[in-house]
Amino acid sequence: ARVSLWGGRFAGGPDQALAALSKSTHFDWRLAPHDIAGSRAHARVLHAAGLLTQEHLAAMLDGLDRLEADVVSGAFLPAQDDEDVHTALERGLIDRVGAELGGRLRAGRSRNDQVATLFRMYLREHARVVGGLVLDVVDALVAQAKQHLGVSMPGRTHLQHAQPVLLSHHLLAHAWALLRDVDRLRDWDARTDASPYGSGALAGSSLGLDPELVAKDLGFARAVENSIDGTASRDFVAEFAFVAAMTAVDISRIAEEVVIWATKEFSFVTLDDAYSTGSSIMPQKKNPDVAELARGKAGRLVGDLAGLLTTLKALPLAYNRDLQEDKEPVFDAVDTLEVLLPAFSGMVATLTFHTDRLESLAPQGFALATDIAEWLVREGVPFRIAHEVAGACVRDCEERGIELWDLTDDDFARISEHLTPEVRSVLSVEGSLASRDAVGGTAPVRVGEQLVAAGERASLA
Ligand code: ARG
Repeated sequence: ARVSLWGGRFAGGPDQALAALSKSTHFDWRLAPHDIAGSRAHARVLHAAGLLTQEHLAAMLDGLDRLEADVVSGAFLPAQDDEDVHTALERGLIDRVGAELGGRLRAGRSRNDQVATLFRMYLREHARVVGGLVLDVVDALVAQAKQHLGVSMPGRTHLQHAQPVLLSHHLLAHAWALLRDVDRLRDWDARTDASPYGSGALAGSSLGLDPELVAKDLGFARAVENSIDGTASRDFVAEFAFVAAMTAVDISRIAEEVVIWATKEFSFVTLDDAYSTGSSIMPQKKNPDVAELARGKAGRLVGDLAGLLTTLKALPLAYNRDLQEDKEPVFDAVDTLEVLLPAFSGMVATLTFHTDRLESLAPQGFALATDIAEWLVREGVPFRIAHEVAGACVRDCEERGIELWDLTDDDFARISEHLTPEVRSVLSVEGSLASRDAVGGTAPVRVGEQLVAAGERASLA
């Protein structure tokens, strides 16, 4: 039988077209476990306020247990006529405990405070899952960095050779960005640790129900301070969507590098067979689909965030039905990350790095020119002049098709009186790397410390 939540005021039921538009069970059904948990807590607070007898409470909790078991087993599902998850579960409870008792649970609560609370519970749960999956990517990066400590590679700016860096330094740069995303999730969680249950439709509850009691019961640290804010605010959803989008964008930056690194021209990495795909027509193909999907899905998560913010923009207080549009974008963000991240961490963990190639390319493209300039500065030459002298070395080499270390003592002397043969001491990748030994630099000793620090951060998170 159709359970109408507002039958008294209306002569007839909704038009089919309205019902079809209004319906949200196809996406909000995933909140069912949280709705039932909320109902249990609400039943207990009704009892505490003297609005449910001990027997009624026991029968209600028993009915909710049975309902939950049927939801879990799939025996109870939303029906054609159920508008949303809350309506469906009220029908399920009434089926199990009767209309007299089942009809008591709705006192002092509204779907407005209900949905705001359940949504927080759901997202907090998944923030933990997503955070764990991001840490798996961090672990994979840290493990690769550890395994290849000491291997140099061309560091780039503008995608041009810039200065040699350690491969580990480069990989850890991605790890730190992802660790901040995990931090963001944790900060978000602390802000979202407040329950709107008891806010009612918007003005709060008049029945002597204690929102703090419900909050504790549902695992929240506190109740919200303002019932209008509690039912109308969705910044917690938008902020979650931002962190999800930021995470995906950070992942996409690794992804793009993997795509480039796996090309014939770069040949920096080979993907494991388990994390690459073939071609239906070209037998030789091995494609980096995991990385490409990561790149593509980042766009999707940015879209989720943009759609959500657009829905929220200029929405007056308090609850408006527009807010029903808040769920699908973040559900999509959660689902996308939960399927993407395991594939991505697997791909990173199984990458084979071609270290000989990385090392042989590290000094190419005159990547040691800055080292010449800085050597001159240590010799007392002003940097403006040092920069010009090093630039002249590059021009000389470029014209003659040689590398900086091919310059003879005579060449150096011809280019500048400041260039004594000792300059050769910095014309090696080892010398260049070792000289960048300030905190955060790419010197092996610093990167070794960084590796430990990143590993610790990941295990604390
Ligand atoms: N399903 C709605 C939502 O997700 C909650 C119901 C509130 N409906 C209402 N007419 N007040 O936002």
